[in-house]
Amino acid sequence: MKILAIESSCDDTSAAVVEDGRKVISCKVASQIKDHQIYGGVVPEVASRKHIENISPLVKKTIEEANCSFKTIDALAVTYAPGLVGSLLVGVNFAKGLALGTGLPLVPVHHIKSHIASLYLSNPDLKPPFLCLVVSGGHSNIIEVKDYTKFKILGRTRDDAAGEAFDKVGRRLGLAYPGGVMLDKISENGNPDSFKLPVPLSGEDTYDFSFSGIKTAMINIINNYNQKNLELPINDLAASFRKSVVDCLVSNFLRAAKENGYRTLGIAGGVSANSLLRRELNEKCRSLHYNFYEPKLNFCGDNAAMVGSQAYYEFLSGKRASMNLNARAAMPIDGD
Ligand code: KG4
Ligand code: ZN
Repeated sequence: MKILAIESSCDDTSAAVVEDGRKVISCKVASQIKDHQIYGGVVPEVASRKHIENISPLVKKTIEEANCSFKTIDALAVTYAPGLVGSLLVGVNFAKGLALGTGLPLVPVHHIKSHIASLYLSNPDLKPPFLCLVVSGGHSNIIEVKDYTKFKILGRTRDDAAGEAFDKVGRRLGLAYPGGVMLDKISENGNPDSFKLPVPLSGEDTYDFSFSGIKTAMINIINNYNQKNLELPINDLAASFRKSVVDCLVSNFLRAAKENGYRTLGIAGGVSANSLLRRELNEKCRSLHYNFYEPKLNFCGDNAAMVGSQAYYEFLSGKRASMNLNARAAMPIDGD
């Protein structure tokens, strides 16, 4: 079964054709990073306008590259929540137009569920149940994937998402948006033990995360250096911050796995590209004899291939969008 999927939840426009939830026939992404870099972050209105420009030619190219036509595509899928409403609306409206014009069924897809499905594209043997750490620019969750369409959140961020914290600190270190990518790179040349940062929620019996305390401590250190006109040791600062964030993610995730009886673990979302997070989890899971899965690097960030994967399982479970499908800024993963 071939699904044409569309993703426009934030600042990437993407379209893909995916077969039976696992095989990517074609996937194209139009990144807007350059359009937002001058502002230091995503400007929602600019994002919506770029989606409008990009979406038609991108979908056309994706179908051509897949050697498909609407006669050989079986269903359509689109991300409808959560995300920037103005961005989501572009994809939702475009997909509804296609569904009307072609008569194909339309499957609405939840953004976080699709990030989890990015694991199916890279790991043919992975099947639920497993425990997933979803870390992106907007979310940091520990999620029980009970089945392809059944989820339960065990832990969530109480303030900033991990990617958001990386981006904000990256900006204060003078790195280009999105700061997380560059911060990860320069951390490789820094000493992670140079700065002592607070350990959030220590002593609390929770799987939740909190990154605002570490972020504020970093900003105070940076301000201190700036006030004294001292050169920022950016590699050491980045490495210390990255280690603190990764330590929180890894320790809560492994504790949640142990206490809830999971021996199969996966990571997903933009921050799952982080090299320290990958190294730490690979090493720790190997020594604990856990099965550990990660998406290929090109499927960590927002893309429509993961939407096509999740849509396949949603389609099998009977999910269909009606013609009054709307975009939603927020939507719990176990609420739609
Ligand atoms: O999943 P994603 O593409 O968009 C959202 O759904 O939010 O995630 C984007 C986030 C950004 O905050 C970006 O800085 C972060 O993922 N990111 C990274 C790395 N690559 C991307 N954060 C840390 N290390 C990386 N290597
Ligand atoms: Zn995302």
